[in-house]
Amino acid sequence: MARVRWTIGNWKQNLFRGTAELLATEIVDGLPPELLEGPVRTKIGVAPTMVALDALAPWSRPAGPLYLFGQNCAAQEEGAFTGEVGPGQLADVGVHGAIIGHSERRTHFHEDDALIARKVLCALQGGLRVVLCVGEGLEIRESGNHENFVISQLSASLAGVDPELFQDRLVIAYEPVWAIGTGKTASARDAGAMHRRIRTWLTEQYGATGADRSILYGGSVKPGNAAGLMAAGDVDGFLVGGASLEAEAFLQIVRLVA
Ligand code: G3H
Repeated sequence: MARVRWTIGNWKQNLFRGTAELLATEIVDGLPPELLEGPVRTKIGVAPTMVALDALAPWSRPAGPLYLFGQNCAAQEEGAFTGEVGPGQLADVGVHGAIIGHSERRTHFHEDDALIARKVLCALQGGLRVVLCVGEGLEIRESGNHENFVISQLSASLAGVDPELFQDRLVIAYEPVWAIGTGKTASARDAGAMHRRIRTWLTEQYGATGADRSILYGGSVKPGNAAGLMAAGDVDGFLVGGASLEAEAFLQIVRLVA
């Protein structure tokens, strides 16, 4: 069963090795014991900057409870590609997966769906988990075309990726761009509707097995709105930005997801 609950903190370009280690310690120390010892009810991930990834090995699986994610991954294994880090190199320092297609990469670094599809393919072929981000901007939401937009983004970002590779390693994150870092969250109703549309599309394209995967919500998730969003149905957890930088806020969200 690939549809499991996830709480993943995307630390973006924040923290240094020392402060990243401190935050990881606070998170792990604050985890409820049943999440550490009993059957796992939510997987917990953190995505620090690339240069802090290996420093978090003591808190990440298999030594600790956290799954480690890169915030990006190259579209090629290795070679003469200055500044890039490939899936094998990430795995080599203990990384379990990569966030791909985040709107900040799409917007600030001009990553398009074709490049994202190549990154998804490369990461999955390299054995990593992938959190594939999709989401519409405000103009598209206001035009009412948001569902078509997100489905076309999803379709193009997975173009040419053999579904045999998905296994339990592909997670989708719906992150409306207008909700990221703005304090505005999608209503539970709107988030639920989009998640259901994504699940339906996955079923149409890849069958029940292909649709049996986690769909996370991201965009100003806080302890105060997480329970409502989880209750929307078809929301399997969160990709958390700002609130993941405060251990107690992140831990409250983890508890609500579990
Ligand atoms: O990856 C996380 C998202 O960009 C959400 O960020 O929780 O600060 O809005 P945020």
